[in-house]
Amino acid sequence: MIRGLSVILYFKIMSKKIVILASGDGSNAEAIMRHFDSSTKIEVSSIISNNRQAGVFDRAKRFRVPCLWMDKNSFESDVVLDFFLTEQPDLIVLAGFLWKIPASLVQTFPNKIINIHPALLPKFGGKGMYGAHVHRAVKESGDTNTGITIHYVNEYYDEGGFIFQAQVEVVPADTADTIAQKVHQLEHKHFPVIIEQLLTQ
Ligand code: GAR
Repeated sequence: MIRGLSVILYFKIMSKKIVILASGDGSNAEAIMRHFDSSTKIEVSSIISNNRQAGVFDRAKRFRVPCLWMDKNSFESDVVLDFFLTEQPDLIVLAGFLWKIPASLVQTFPNKIINIHPALLPKFGGKGMYGAHVHRAVKESGDTNTGITIHYVNEYYDEGGFIFQAQVEVVPADTADTIAQKVHQLEHKHFPVIIEQLLTQ
């Protein structure tokens, strides 16, 4: 029994830690938790949400990952920095997180914060461009493709260096909703794999 516990503790100490930030439904957070659920090398150690009603809380519970709520004052103060300094994550992953990341956090964790954007940046990015707003803009533009961009986070919305992009076709019959479905499929397929590559390369 004690020996079993020591093995678990050893893997816990040695494994790389991901902290996810999510504001909404949390389907990407779930894809990431599922991908690493049985890994002994990488774990989702916690999730932070700014939205008490977010679906991500239920998803985190199912994977037994602690999920914390943080209000705007805490997020913009040293509380969030202290949390991350204590947690010492190897990667901070924004999975549908809608608040801007404080400059102090970006500077303290250079190249350790990544975001997924539901379009092919630099198109359809910037403040106010998130979720359904992006898919509606893609539909209205008449573009024949869209996709996902995984990128590093800097002090500006959607402007950090690109890590990965993948495309999907947009056909005339598509609506903003069907575009969203196609993009979510791409996200769930690629995001966990790219995270794993970043943590093992
Ligand atoms: C995802 O499509 C993600 O790319 C997008 O929010 C959705 C969250 O879905 N992020 C942004 O728009 C950021 N600008 P989820 O809660 O089901 O993972």
